[in-house]
Amino acid sequence: MTLEKTQSILPHGGKLINREVKGKEREQLLVKAEKMKALTISAWSISDIELIGIGGFSPLTGFMGQEDYLRVVNEMRLANGLVWSVPITLPVTKEEADQFEVGEEIALRGKEGIVYGILKLEEKYTYDKELEAKMVYGTTDEAHPGVKKVYEKGEVYLAGPISLLNRPNHDQFIDFYKDPSETRTMFSELGWKTVVGFQTRNPVHRAHEYIQKSALEIVDGLLLNPLVGETKSDDIPAHIRMESYQVLINNYYPKDRVRLVIYPAAMRYAGPREAILHALVRKNYGCTHFIVGRDHAGVGDYYGTYDAQKIFENFTKEEIGIEILKFEHSFYCTKCGNMGTAKTCPHDKEYHVHLSGTKVREMLRSGINPPKEFSRPEVAEVLIRGMKKTN
Ligand code: ADX
Repeated sequence: MTLEKTQSILPHGGKLINREVKGKEREQLLVKAEKMKALTISAWSISDIELIGIGGFSPLTGFMGQEDYLRVVNEMRLANGLVWSVPITLPVTKEEADQFEVGEEIALRGKEGIVYGILKLEEKYTYDKELEAKMVYGTTDEAHPGVKKVYEKGEVYLAGPISLLNRPNHDQFIDFYKDPSETRTMFSELGWKTVVGFQTRNPVHRAHEYIQKSALEIVDGLLLNPLVGETKSDDIPAHIRMESYQVLINNYYPKDRVRLVIYPAAMRYAGPREAILHALVRKNYGCTHFIVGRDHAGVGDYYGTYDAQKIFENFTKEEIGIEILKFEHSFYCTKCGNMGTAKTCPHDKEYHVHLSGTKVREMLRSGINPPKEFSRPEVAEVLIRGMKKTN
């Protein structure tokens, strides 16, 4: 049976991309790569290569050329008109760019020397950093972690199709690693016709749990899909979060209706634009629904609370192709004695348990349990233990 027959949801662009080279061909390419010019790439670019290679970024087959790039930046579409909100590009310095000729193959290596992939160079182009910052991140403020990256990176983009030769090492999360074709098979084996994807870069607190479970009331299964690639330094490290997700699922979730799978991408903090990217990628993983709550992928005060929901109004449902489940800001209300939102709770703010991410991280670092209305005690315990080790 082909994937298309077992799955009701098509990948973005209609076909799951697979740029991974395996077996003998891979071995030959690795030998060939030894003789190619090499480029040392960042952890961020390595995660991009992986996601292109395994089809998470379908329909992309490589790093964007200028035509795609400009249309994505200006109109949130690829040159062929398909919705795409965030540029996927390979930045290099001018000096590095000068070493490569269009038409040649370049070995893309990590700092440790591993060849992650090969780029067939089709194009080199310069770009306007301020425009990218403004359009993609909504600000040119360098205090924004995504914008900071834009200003730090090289001034030329290399573009062309890639081949993935080595996936980055995910050994520490190996039980939770699946590529999009594997999650699609898993959903079909589980008999899940509808699956809601949940992106997170944080521990799952009661508000997250509430919106996930509200979604679970209307779909067959939940893909808890935490981002474990590069995040900003004050976010809680992925290995600590992963332990907390397992404890939470074991204690509070129906096991046959949730699966924990890592999302090996870097966090861009691009708010609304990243919400679209997150949704399209989860469609590629086989989800039929995707949760966008309050300030999705946001940081600081750069985005309005519901901007990441409103941005989807620019497109038709068919163009997005995955159903967006929008949730309001959720909280525990001490007067209701349960979780809710402004839609379901009539009480004043003073009854709502609300803690900022920064405040919670501070509490956890000092070994203080956040209130049980905010975080499950089992989760808080794992986080406190984990944070102590990293202090
Ligand atoms: S994110 O950067 O990955 O979006 P986070 O892990 O905090 O950050 O959020 C995961 C998802 O939960 C996002 O869709 C976000 O909008 C949503 N979310 C987080 N906190 C709340 C809340 N209190 N109420 C409603 N939605 C929330």
